[in-house]
Amino acid sequence: MASRNQQLSFRETSFLPYTNCNTRIIDLKQFDLLEHSSENEYRTRYLEIIKSSTPNSQLLQSAVQSLVTGIAPPVAFPTETVYGLGADATNAPAISGIFAAKGRPSDNPLIVHVASREHLERLTGEAIPEIYHDLVREHWPGPLTILVPVPKNSPFAKNVHPGQNTIGFRVPLSRYARFLISAADRPIAGPSANSSGKPSPTTAQHVKEDMSGKINFILDGGSCDVGVESTVVDGLHDPPLILRPGGLSRQSLIEHGKSFGNAWQHVAIGYKQHEGSIPTSGRDTPSGEWHLNGNLEYDAPRAPGMKYKHYAPQGRLILVEKTDSRPEALIREFFQATSPKLNGSSSVEEISQIIPKVAILATTYWSTTEGFEYDELANGSANLNSLQVRTTKLQIHGHGELQVYVIALGQISSDVARNLFSALRTCDVLSCNYIFAEAPQRIEKDGNEGRDWEAVMERMRKAASEIVSM
Ligand code: TXA
Ligand code: MG
Repeated sequence: MASRNQQLSFRETSFLPYTNCNTRIIDLKQFDLLEHSSENEYRTRYLEIIKSSTPNSQLLQSAVQSLVTGIAPPVAFPTETVYGLGADATNAPAISGIFAAKGRPSDNPLIVHVASREHLERLTGEAIPEIYHDLVREHWPGPLTILVPVPKNSPFAKNVHPGQNTIGFRVPLSRYARFLISAADRPIAGPSANSSGKPSPTTAQHVKEDMSGKINFILDGGSCDVGVESTVVDGLHDPPLILRPGGLSRQSLIEHGKSFGNAWQHVAIGYKQHEGSIPTSGRDTPSGEWHLNGNLEYDAPRAPGMKYKHYAPQGRLILVEKTDSRPEALIREFFQATSPKLNGSSSVEEISQIIPKVAILATTYWSTTEGFEYDELANGSANLNSLQVRTTKLQIHGHGELQVYVIALGQISSDVARNLFSALRTCDVLSCNYIFAEAPQRIEKDGNEGRDWEAVMERMRKAASEIVSM
């Protein structure tokens, strides 16, 4: 048995992040992967690739080997929701590397990515609980994470599920993620690949911003299709609960329940719904009271990650849930009411240092606003973070000229979901002090009833310093 000293030193060193890694991005799109292959087919394809002279095939092999051996830092990989930071879910020291690289609180459990339901049952030696049978048949692969009791002879490292008697599993839809799981032939524990407190990454470049020097490999599968994380559900509770809203909507779960005649038609909300303003300070500190929709009260959130304030940009985000307001009028009103007058400032330089930079994140109405002049020709437009950013100036009486950046996130919630995290990162890159974000309307389109809407609203409210709703 290890001595007390040995145990202590292991614990200390295993939580130190790597600091001098040579971080490389490997483009997976060059490997011609098919969308719907079986585990064996992906594994065969992987063996073909590493024997070939395809550029980067050796780097790919190194990335997969570092997952398999578990003695290197975690590997970032694409999924359809957001990028993950992966390590072998059966290897405790490798899992510690994830917590270290992210600066993640050690009480926050990780989601384990598997290739299929069969893969999961092979690993646990047990069938998944019956409540999930039809659900995963319909929604896996996809943005759905289910909580399963920790199996009797669990092969999973304990630090994957700190303080929990359940483990969250999902089968990602992304071909790149399932290829990686099959190539490594391992269950891959993977939280979102951002530094704790930052928006989840939806491109390989975002991962690089946060993880440069801390990991060796970022596998690049392009921009994520969904853009918000998976929906985490607890089917072991009666009624079943949504612990985190995400890419699979509550409406889809209810519809599933109705068409299969099962308990999902009664699925309840098991996360805190923000109604008012949330302080911007205290990232990664527990925020707010916790309650289950209805009468039940919980002392602690059921998904530990939900108690942390996430996704906050550096500037002050004002979320506008008022449908009749125009950004221009709102900005004028806001600055005239709250900002110090700049009239008395002496030089142009002084004023330009004081004048804040403002971002407008436009969704349903603002992206078609007539009252607001973007004036692209006079001021310009650039592509940042694969988002179109228009720049303009706004003259505020007695305050000078504000620098304004306008980013259209899209009119419907699934477009907003895809662009939101990237836009929040862009606001930081542009050093915006104020961000006026329009909450999207729950619009129905192509029979897609406000898909992702609750997830988008939850992310926006979490990022907000204040909410304008009257
Ligand atoms: O879409 C996703 O889910 C992404 C991609 C990479 O798959 N992953 C992700 O992981 O968002 P992470 O670690 O950032 O968020 C996991 C969430 C946290 O809120 C965590 O507390 C919760 O799921 N969770 C994980 N296991 C749990 C468990 N056993 N019981 C309760 N909550 C759990
Ligand atoms: Mg996360």
